[in-house]
Amino acid sequence: MRDCGEIVAKLRSQRLSARGAAQKMKSESILTWISCFIKLICSDISVKSGVRMLFNSIYHDLVVRAFSVRASRLLVLAMVLAAPGWGPAGGQEQSNSQLASKEVNDRVEALLKKMTLDEKIGQLAQYSAGFATGPNASHLKYDQMVANGQVGSLENVVGAEATNHYQRIAVEKSRLHIPLLFGFDVIHGDHTTFPIPLAIAASWDPGTAELVSRTSAQEARADGITLVFSPMVDIARDPRWGRIVESNGEDPYLGSVMARAWVKGYQQDDLSKPDSVAACVKHFAAYGAAIAGREYNATDMSQITLRQVYLEPYHAAVEAGAAVVMSSFNSINGIPASADPFTLTQILRKEWGFDGFVDADWGAVAELLNHGIGADGATVARKALEAGMDMDNEDGLYQSTLAEQVRSGKIPESVVDEAVRRVLRVKFALGLFDHPYAPVGPPYHVTPERRALARKVADETMVLLQNNSFEGMETLLPLSSKVRKVALIGPMADNAAGMLGAWAGKGNPKDVITLKAELEKRLGSRLLYAKGCGLLSGRDENILQSVINHTSLAGAEQMPVPDDAKTIAEAAATAQKADVAIVALGEPVWWEGEATSRVHLGFTGSQQKLLEAVVATGKPVILVVLSGRPFVLTWAVAHVPAILEAWSPGIEAGPAVADVLFGDVDPSGRLPASMPRAVGQEPLYYAQLPTGRPAHGDLSHMPYDSDQKMMSRYLDVQNSALFPFGWGLSYTHFRFSTPTVSRAEVPLKEVLADRRTVVVVGEDVTNTGSVAGTEVVQLYIRDTVASVEQPVRELKGFTRVMLAPGETKHVEFPLGFNELSFYNADMMRTVESTTYDVWVGGSSLADQETSFKVTE
Ligand code: BGC
Repeated sequence: MRDCGEIVAKLRSQRLSARGAAQKMKSESILTWISCFIKLICSDISVKSGVRMLFNSIYHDLVVRAFSVRASRLLVLAMVLAAPGWGPAGGQEQSNSQLASKEVNDRVEALLKKMTLDEKIGQLAQYSAGFATGPNASHLKYDQMVANGQVGSLENVVGAEATNHYQRIAVEKSRLHIPLLFGFDVIHGDHTTFPIPLAIAASWDPGTAELVSRTSAQEARADGITLVFSPMVDIARDPRWGRIVESNGEDPYLGSVMARAWVKGYQQDDLSKPDSVAACVKHFAAYGAAIAGREYNATDMSQITLRQVYLEPYHAAVEAGAAVVMSSFNSINGIPASADPFTLTQILRKEWGFDGFVDADWGAVAELLNHGIGADGATVARKALEAGMDMDNEDGLYQSTLAEQVRSGKIPESVVDEAVRRVLRVKFALGLFDHPYAPVGPPYHVTPERRALARKVADETMVLLQNNSFEGMETLLPLSSKVRKVALIGPMADNAAGMLGAWAGKGNPKDVITLKAELEKRLGSRLLYAKGCGLLSGRDENILQSVINHTSLAGAEQMPVPDDAKTIAEAAATAQKADVAIVALGEPVWWEGEATSRVHLGFTGSQQKLLEAVVATGKPVILVVLSGRPFVLTWAVAHVPAILEAWSPGIEAGPAVADVLFGDVDPSGRLPASMPRAVGQEPLYYAQLPTGRPAHGDLSHMPYDSDQKMMSRYLDVQNSALFPFGWGLSYTHFRFSTPTVSRAEVPLKEVLADRRTVVVVGEDVTNTGSVAGTEVVQLYIRDTVASVEQPVRELKGFTRVMLAPGETKHVEFPLGFNELSFYNADMMRTVESTTYDVWVGGSSLADQETSFKVTE
């Protein structure tokens, strides 16, 4: 089977080597036909998809060839785009062999034949029968609707008994006995709450992401959940956008590696396993590029950027077999993503070969009215369905408008059929028709094993941003366990709910070990504590608490207004009594995640004042930042010797932070998103495109002459990040050798010929310090000359390396077509002859350099 795959890949990559659709048309078509034929006779794909590929290639061949002789290049490209199953960016792929299998599709077809139009439309409806995760919740009679076959999926139903209740109605009372899918936002753990996804990305460890999603899948499935709304793989380059917390950060390469790992853990490459769940990759597409970082805002970008940056992690997740994709709320270049045939059909289905279904985000179909692409519900529902949106979520518009439009001939029934097929495929592949119920087990509780797992994960996510010397100490951290008195200060120090993070699923604050609880255990009476202030100031803090605790807002208005000045003075007095102060600050968990855009990227309320007051005592200060996004830490960097970014670490928050503070664990997290010097730099990311006037020289002061001025820079702040992508300190030091390349020159045709490695970059990394440590070795490249400008640096490889003191390890980074290619002006993924600069090091500032050439 592998041999067959390789032959096909080879043939296909021949096709990729074409410079334009109009070129090499003859050999292209022959190759494509042959490759499809070989795929067809290989038994690992269904006849259906084989035939579809063959059809596509013939269609492509006939249509494109006919036009290539006479028509302009543009017209040819337009036809290429219009051809079913043909994408200029890579041709058709197959994403999940289970969904494409003959067995599954035969069962789908047999069932489809028995379904009435209303039953079909019922499969396309999803509702929340639990809590709401968006506005305008439906509150309908779900029991009756399920029995009538009017529901395909329910979300937010908690616990095996509750899911079984609805499942029993679906399987035993509905006419065709079609089981329901139960969806849930399992974002960073189900019951066991792990660190937020952004923190997991900071581990730069796909194994960790897989561990989290595997554990979450087991817990979710035990509750009858078969569809998890995760992973969220939106590229997030602007921390004003609160959903950066759910993302893998700014980089398409890191994001893609993590995306694959999340999907693998959920689905195990086999949806039919009793503890697999269908992964719903979200939010398709480019939701993270919301203009000005404002939630739900439009996105507008070139197609090259869309494909090369924003779509990459979704593609990786789909390639890894993700069964479901969730559409996003935003528009992309003027077309709402939830009704965009270009992304939902052309790219997702035709280019990537996605056979699963697209689920609307909460109410996204009805929101198309607000986008102004239709004057009534029927129109926007039709546009969404025809664009490739299969399942309507919560707003009931498919249910209320599609049947009539099919009956009147406005929508062909085949369009509905196709959407139903996609939904049923996932249900069959999950084995739900054979095993619809969740065995009811004992209620969940946190076992020591689960705690150990959560701690291991959290340990890996801590990013030590700064660790300066302080009064004779070479570095302030790690703290000696013999330290006499420690003052723990700040509103995050004993904030259990705040440790769980933005989307804690069924996480319970009672399971959280806070930093205060852990330090009390470690230090006993040597620990002093003062909260210092709330997370917000004045009346806002009372209101925040009433929101978090679900108590009355009116009651909050009556409560005495907190006196921050007084409590801050008390906290400073507490710090005075100690040898060292640990200050734990952040932002409210209610201010992280969906609908939490901010223009000030700093500590909320009076926390900055609290920090300044503690620093003013002259005591050594360690700042622990517990946030869901990169903050502007400019003041802290200038005044606080040690800063640890601990994110929202989950149930083992206290032990994990303490592990790093006391040096039981070497901090090995590295930033997945740049931390700015000022909010005005956003969106800030390392992989910038070059400019005609690149900034150089010392940008730390204002320009003194026009040579210093007339370049791409800010006058009042440096261009660079305060802490760049990939940054993170360890308690030891690492030395990087000059990287080597296995070959100085590679012929272009070899790179284009297949997707295998053409150059290997070698690197020796040495631990030059006196303690063991883990480094994340990172490889960056720059394509120096291309027909389309390329970023000044791009991550193309990384690996975590654990080194004993004095130890050296050799690491290698393979580079091939996947790493070296880019999208050209014709939207072809290609490589051209050029020189690649290569850097290896411990962050995006890596300075050990080499290069190699790709020659004509
Ligand atoms: C969010 C999604 C989530 C969905 C279902 C929406 O508000 O944008 O990320 O999966 O609700 O809960």
